[in-house]
Amino acid sequence: MTDSQGEVTPLELYEKLNVQGEKVRSLKTAKAEKADIDTAVQLLLKLKTDYKHLTGQDYKAGCPPPENVVNQDNGSATDGIDEEDNVDPWNVSTSNAKGVDYDKLIVRFGSSKIEKELVDRIEKVTGQKPHRFLRRGIFFSHRDMHQVLDAYEKNKSFYLYTGRGPSSEAMHVGHLIPFIFTKWLQDVFDIPLVIQLTDDEKYLWKDLTIEECHRFAVENAKDIIACGFDVNKTFIFSDFDYMGSSPEFYRNVVKIQKHVTYNQVKGIFGFTDSDCIGKISFPAIQAAPSFSNSFPQIFGGRKDVQCLIPCAIDQDPYFRMTRDVAPRIGYPKPALLHSSFFPALQGAQTKMSASDANSSIFLTDTPKQIKNKINKHAFSGGKDTIEEHRKFGGNPDVDVSFMYLTFFLDDDEQLEKIKQDYSSGALLTGELKKILIETLQPMIAQHQERRKQVTEETVKQFMTPRPLNFKL
Ligand code: TRP
Repeated sequence: MTDSQGEVTPLELYEKLNVQGEKVRSLKTAKAEKADIDTAVQLLLKLKTDYKHLTGQDYKAGCPPPENVVNQDNGSATDGIDEEDNVDPWNVSTSNAKGVDYDKLIVRFGSSKIEKELVDRIEKVTGQKPHRFLRRGIFFSHRDMHQVLDAYEKNKSFYLYTGRGPSSEAMHVGHLIPFIFTKWLQDVFDIPLVIQLTDDEKYLWKDLTIEECHRFAVENAKDIIACGFDVNKTFIFSDFDYMGSSPEFYRNVVKIQKHVTYNQVKGIFGFTDSDCIGKISFPAIQAAPSFSNSFPQIFGGRKDVQCLIPCAIDQDPYFRMTRDVAPRIGYPKPALLHSSFFPALQGAQTKMSASDANSSIFLTDTPKQIKNKINKHAFSGGKDTIEEHRKFGGNPDVDVSFMYLTFFLDDDEQLEKIKQDYSSGALLTGELKKILIETLQPMIAQHQERRKQVTEETVKQFMTPRPLNFKL
């Protein structure tokens, strides 16, 4: 991406300025090298000049440019720099068969890349081999993770927050990615976790009744619990249930609502005048669990417990807003770990979607369905004929079966060997698919087995507001 003004919208420039301003402030508080501070300040000044040039106004933090370009498709106004990729809480698509260009996304969103150094540091701090999602760059971007580790090393703990929008009963394997990773984080750091089920969000956005959304929340909770979370350290809540029962949670929602303008959410989410007011105020509800005093039963009255949010990168707009509002209402900013998307069977141009049965492998699929879907629909990077494949080899970078193996096959050496054999032509597409089928079938069967063990009583336990077991 370049900084040339022809390609940058006022809002993007505004968001870059926010990020750069934050960077300068944190360098100053960290008493960084003078040269580093100077470079950052110079970039800030250059951006301010560009901003003035582009909008005719002075940049002011907290006041996004008024002439925000609002997308007709409910897409976010972060679109526009890059015509290939479209990423926001409602849409993910790209024209590139390898998938979204995540490095560009990091620049566009102003987050930081998860470098090898950070992965090594997590290994050092926890004393555990980093999860394959970290080793392989599936969680690829973060905000403030170094600060979280700095504090953790000084015995200052933190809590985890993640969530799911329960839009149907059917969850697919892609939905498990953040939960598998969150479970690992909970285990290696030994910390409490809150999981928000935004049944209210799905009611506002989809053509569903309140009862349906609430029922999906409870059904989805079973799949989430089946990932193995520790009931003594995990609180799962439906917004419909918890909002009404927790004055502290609701107070935070209203505090956030008071400190974010319509103009800001319009800029971040692309809302239009014809969106219902429920949608416009919903981001405050997704923001509130980032603040520890939303959960007095867990944290006493403490408002200063650091929050870390593992989520897919498309949820970042919510948390950019949250991080922007946090200091203004006297709370710490949540840190974030962002994952890439789980590709659809048809190819990495879109993410797996529960509304398209052929694009997804569901957690309820039988071994036979898994086999047929992969054989029939998984986009192949192989050549058209066996002769050609043997001669030229396949392309693992666009091959969906290979991509899925990078998510689920834990053995690094085996994965590397598959990659080489596929690239050289020694391994055929059918053989690669067979490896994937044999990886997914037992994984999903085990999930189904664990889900069967989850009783209504277990769900109730997880979803009851109560103290959790941990030391901060
Ligand atoms: N909006 C998210 C979805 O539709 C659900 C969600 C709520 C969430 N809070 C979260 C996701 C925190 C990740 C982290 O799926």
